[in-house]
Amino acid sequence: MATWGGLLLIILSFPLFSKSSYLAKSNELKTDASDLNLRCIDIERNALLKFKEGLIDPLGQLASWVGKDCCRWKGVHCSNEELQSQISSVHLRECVISISRFASFSGIVPPHLGNLSNLRYLDLLAYSNPNDYIGSSWVSDLNWVSGLTSLKYLDLGYINLSLETNWLQALNTLPSLSELHLYYCGLQNIPPSPLNLNFSSLSVLDLSYNYFNSLPQWLFNISSLAKLSLYSCHAKASISQAAWEDLCNLQDLDLSNNEIIGNISDLIGALSRCSNRSIEMLKLWDSHISGQLPESLGFLKNLRFLHLDENLLTGPIPESIGKLSNLKILSLVGNQLTGTIPESVGKFTQLTQLWLYKNSWGGVLSQKHFEGLKKLEYFSISSSNNAFSINLSDEWVPPFSLRFIEIDSYPLGPKFPTWLKTQKQLDSIILTNVSISGTIPHWLKKLCPQIQRLDLSYNQLGGMLPDSLAFPGYTRVIVDFSFNRLSGQIPLWPNVTHLILANNLFSGSIPTNIGQVMLRLKILDLSGNLLNDSIPLSISDMVYLQRLDLSNNLLYGEIHEKWRNLQEIRVIDLSRNNLSGNIPNSICSMPNLFWLKLSSNSLSGELSSLKNCTSLSVLDLGGNEFSGNMPQWIGESLLSLVVLSIRANMFYGNIPEKLCHLYNLHILDLADNNLSGSIPSCLDNFSSLSSWTPYSPYSHYSYWNYVFIPQMVLVVKGLPIMYTLTLYLVKAIDLSRNNLRGDIPEEITHLSTLGSLNLSWNQLTGKIPDSIGSLKQLEALDLSQNNLSGPIPLSLTSITSLSKLNVSYNNLSGKFHQPTNSKRSMIHPFMRVTLDFGGVHCKPRV
Ligand SMILES: *[C@@H]1O[C@H](CO)[C@@H](O)[C@H](O)[C@H]1NC(C)=O
Ligand SMILES: *[C@@H]1O[C@H](CO)[C@@H](O)[C@H](O)[C@H]1NC(C)=O
Ligand SMILES: *[C@@H]1O[C@H](CO)[C@@H](O)[C@H](O)[C@H]1NC(C)=O
Ligand SMILES: *[C@@H]1O[C@H](CO)[C@@H](O)[C@H](O)[C@H]1NC(C)=O
Ligand SMILES: *[C@@H]1O[C@H](CO)[C@@H](O)[C@H](O)[C@H]1NC(C)=O
Ligand SMILES: *[C@@H]1O[C@H](CO)[C@@H](O)[C@H](O)[C@H]1NC(C)=O
Ligand SMILES: *[C@@H]1O[C@H](CO)[C@@H](O)[C@H](O)[C@H]1NC(C)=O
Ligand SMILES: *[C@@H]1O[C@H](CO)[C@@H](O)[C@H](O)[C@H]1NC(C)=O
Ligand SMILES: *[C@@H]1O[C@H](CO)[C@@H](O)[C@H](O)[C@H]1NC(C)=O
Ligand SMILES: *[C@@H]1O[C@H](CO)[C@@H](O)[C@H](O)[C@H]1NC(C)=O
Ligand SMILES: *[C@@H]1O[C@H](CO)[C@@H](O)[C@H](O)[C@H]1NC(C)=O
Ligand SMILES: *[C@@H]1O[C@H](CO)[C@@H](O)[C@H](O)[C@H]1NC(C)=O
Repeated sequence: MATWGGLLLIILSFPLFSKSSYLAKSNELKTDASDLNLRCIDIERNALLKFKEGLIDPLGQLASWVGKDCCRWKGVHCSNEELQSQISSVHLRECVISISRFASFSGIVPPHLGNLSNLRYLDLLAYSNPNDYIGSSWVSDLNWVSGLTSLKYLDLGYINLSLETNWLQALNTLPSLSELHLYYCGLQNIPPSPLNLNFSSLSVLDLSYNYFNSLPQWLFNISSLAKLSLYSCHAKASISQAAWEDLCNLQDLDLSNNEIIGNISDLIGALSRCSNRSIEMLKLWDSHISGQLPESLGFLKNLRFLHLDENLLTGPIPESIGKLSNLKILSLVGNQLTGTIPESVGKFTQLTQLWLYKNSWGGVLSQKHFEGLKKLEYFSISSSNNAFSINLSDEWVPPFSLRFIEIDSYPLGPKFPTWLKTQKQLDSIILTNVSISGTIPHWLKKLCPQIQRLDLSYNQLGGMLPDSLAFPGYTRVIVDFSFNRLSGQIPLWPNVTHLILANNLFSGSIPTNIGQVMLRLKILDLSGNLLNDSIPLSISDMVYLQRLDLSNNLLYGEIHEKWRNLQEIRVIDLSRNNLSGNIPNSICSMPNLFWLKLSSNSLSGELSSLKNCTSLSVLDLGGNEFSGNMPQWIGESLLSLVVLSIRANMFYGNIPEKLCHLYNLHILDLADNNLSGSIPSCLDNFSSLSSWTPYSPYSHYSYWNYVFIPQMVLVVKGLPIMYTLTLYLVKAIDLSRNNLRGDIPEEITHLSTLGSLNLSWNQLTGKIPDSIGSLKQLEALDLSQNNLSGPIPLSLTSITSLSKLNVSYNNLSGKFHQPTNSKRSMIHPFMRVTLDFGGVHCKPRV
């Protein structure tokens, strides 16, 4: 059973809540009147005992919960605020229980809590760890809350309520409720319209991290709300102008990470019509919202935080923004905003963060934009518009002291922007694709002892790197100098966790002591250099390593045996070198390895050493000298495979039927071997090739939000194409250049989402299956250089996505039919296909 850990707080009554209590909840919990001579009421004590009974408490945290006087129990405080008024009725007595940071509990939250009719404050936040956030404790029926008639504050965060379908009805019986927190509760249904909302004093409603399909209008119609958070509910909501008119108490609105259909100007327009304009925080990032920022934005004079990242906003920032003198954070990353950035942003004396990255700004960004930004610490900008320019002189002494700067894809160079010298607090410098050249300046080296992220990739930096740079010992120190012209030896910088030096001119051998000196490395990417010699043994000492990319170098020698220590590693890419010998058995002793690319080397032997690599998703062994029968066990052991390539080796024998057990396979490339026999008809078992279920191992690894973009070159439509994140959308089978015989099995046409099928250069006979037209997503079909006969099936013309078709060098006959509808044929892709009917017997009538 999962555990119930972290903060557990029950407060039996609490002073009346102010609207902003959610900001200061923990501070206000100081009420402690345990010295008052108060005794428990039986019914309350029993409720607590039942509550205790329902929990599994392995550490005995609640051992003191025995005896009559619950006011003396550990963590229980009793108080009576209203004693002064001399009313000694038991109904007025108040009890505070707080159990903070007790280790682990688990189980069902018992309904007996409902007996605590004087309870005003109930906080059951059941947080254990992020991977186990709900499910640890659960409530399958919330009806007991209706007993808590005095309840003002309820927090059931992280408690699994997915079985409770009547949660709203149950909570609607609590007319005094002022704060309701139901985040991470696994809630899925939210009634489209409750009959009568009792929530007349609800001021805080937090439903974030649930899974609603849609957000009903009534949520935006609770006029008492000061804070509404629907963050990350994965929900659709249509925001009409009218819906917002009543939200004039709103101070804090978070609709981020949903699909909001509507226009930002309606929302801001409505908020600006409130006489008091109470809104202080507006968060709508990644919410699909569109439209232009209206002039009325300037009326929201209390606004302090404006987060509108990753939306579909267009047009310029209105001049009126200058009136928002309280603004602390302005974040507009990833929209389609245009026009000149108003100089009035330079008046925001409180501004600490200005994020203008990924837009289409025009005009000039000048010193005027920063004139009053004394408190600025974070700044980012980039523009896809070539007309945009930055005019900050070298002599400029900025009023601020930045910690973070990011400028991307703008020609700042060839010199480093020298005004950066004045910034003594920088810990992140990201100047990517900004045309800077020369060597790394001295003043930058001085900053290194405080740097956590230094990304100068995609520039023209040259020369050698100093071998003795000091970086701090943070958990994450990222150095990315990829795509430059740096040369010399690979430097050894202790404390760096992510070292990305790909695509430079580094040469010589990888330092043999790299594993001892750079012990903290999690990511090591030295691909695309001129490194020679063998792979140093000490790499196996990097116990934290998650990704190793040494591809596209001049490394030679054998892959050594010592992989056992790399228990964290997920990705190994040693492709495009000159490695020889066998694959060592120990490569499968790395339990998390899911991506192994050894293609384009001179490796040989049989593959049995990979039998234990059961976690592999991607296995690319193409372009080596492996031989032997195509192994059966691949289909028995490597059941997670999504990509399998053994292209261009010397495998022989039949394609084993067992291969069809690889249900997740998207890409099967067996081309250019000596495989014989027939094509197994069970290939239609590849369910991911006949369904739309998106399968992406990245989802499991998304927490590597930096530099994990594995790459793979695939030959599609005859051209090598580099796939990165889209790799998992590619669906292809390539069995070309073997000695396969027999018919094309009809079953292959069941793979309805297949994008590319290449069976050329075999000895296939019989007809092209009539049902080939079922491959509706096919973009490339190559059946050339076989002994196929019969007519070209009519159904081929119905594949509208087909852009490359080659059936040449067969014995095909008959007419090739064009669609009869002339209007359609005008736009029919067959007008654009590369028809390669070079064979003798088949003449297309195009
Ligand atoms: C307490 O609550 C439980 C469950 O709701 C109920 O069965 C029980 O009768 C209650 N006890 C008292 C004393 O009211
Ligand atoms: C919540 O509980 C339901 C029913 O017991 C269960 O199916 C679901 O997996 C749980 N959710 C999580 C995230 O544990
Ligand atoms: C509102 O609360 C009162 C008091 O608890 C209750 O009697 C009434 O049924 C509630 N209304 C709805 C619609 O649930
Ligand atoms: C909003 O609430 C008012 C009454 O407070 C009601 O008249 C109106 O119909 C509600 N609108 C929606 C969309 O629920
Ligand atoms: C804001 O004004 C509305 C009326 O426009 C009023 O109902 C509300 O109480 C005011 N809120 C605050 C926080 O002052
Ligand atoms: C958003 O609303 C404004 C003003 O009502 C209007 O001018 C604009 O065209 C709308 N934009 C979109 C994308 O609907
Ligand atoms: C750049 O700014 C300086 C003053 O800061 C000004 O004199 C100069 O004309 C500006 N250059 C351009 C091209 O805008
Ligand atoms: C670099 O910036 C230029 C525009 O300055 C852009 O066209 C190009 O795509 C960018 N390259 C990369 C790799 O981002
Ligand atoms: C590595 O970090 C530690 C602090 O964790 C620091 O004392 C040490 O000087 C750093 N080493 C280098 C070479 O920067
Ligand atoms: C490795 O590269 C270095 C530097 O380019 C070169 O001097 C050396 O001869 C090379 N060694 C081998 C064995 O290729
Ligand atoms: C690869 O290594 C083999 C010896 O293992 C050697 O004969 C061959 O020349 C090397 N090829 C290249 C391109 O360096
Ligand atoms: C695979 O794992 C099993 C059990 O851990 C072990 O006995 C066997 O030797 C391993 N095989 C290879 C090829 O490493």
